[in-house]
Amino acid sequence: MAADTARPAGSSLPVCIAHRGDSVRAPENTLRAFAQALELGATWLELDVHHVHDRLLVIHDETVDRTTDGTGPLSAHSLAELRALDAGEGERIPFLEEVLELACGRARVNVELKGPGTAAPTVAVLQTAMRDGRCRPEQVVVSSFGWDRLAEVRRLAPDLPIAPLIGKGAGGEVIEVADRLGAEAIHISRWSARQRLVNAAHQRGLAVRVFTVNREWEYDLMLRLGVDGFFTDDPLRALTWGAQAPVLV
Ligand code: G3P
Ligand code: MG
Repeated sequence: MAADTARPAGSSLPVCIAHRGDSVRAPENTLRAFAQALELGATWLELDVHHVHDRLLVIHDETVDRTTDGTGPLSAHSLAELRALDAGEGERIPFLEEVLELACGRARVNVELKGPGTAAPTVAVLQTAMRDGRCRPEQVVVSSFGWDRLAEVRRLAPDLPIAPLIGKGAGGEVIEVADRLGAEAIHISRWSARQRLVNAAHQRGLAVRVFTVNREWEYDLMLRLGVDGFFTDDPLRALTWGAQAPVLV
């Protein structure tokens, strides 16, 4: 396993990653959700980005319907309109830069590229944060179901950690892809988490992180499989299962 992805020394516990922040207690993908996760002691955060009007917005869906008081696709709104929406409890849809400002140096940040055109702007934002000394490459990881986006990230930023994502039903091809991309990890659905895949990834030096693990029995299964990390909507509960925050590298 690569040094920057290894579990904390002496530990066999997987790391806990706050999925969209503390998303059971706060509106997902908002500054409040990320701040709360940090307060709970989570030292990994996951967020989703879309590229809209030349900015990176932290939001999961292509539309604003589910997570805000607005309606319609992101692209149908001006940036000012999007920023005026209520993303829950008075929170706004954050820019990627705002989450980095909050979390850099306190947590490792997993930026998941959601929409088209996200790779180059994400690299630019992360490189600016690194140039400013706010974070180091090993304190972020860029992931995506769109493997072509990760190839673009790799081309633009050879040092940036990346991780291909796979959903339900996907299998071993992700290992080849991860190898080809020079990835540090694979991020896989719990429905794809099989011993053979975990072992194959570990044999190639890839960490394995699994989404989304919200129940204790699922966590126990992940322990048995020997995965390296898991994404959860409920970091507070997960930390009581004995999962631990990793040492921030
Ligand atoms: O990055 C892990 C997980 O977030 C991928 O699925 O749909 O929750 O973004 P989704
Ligand atoms: Mg995600």
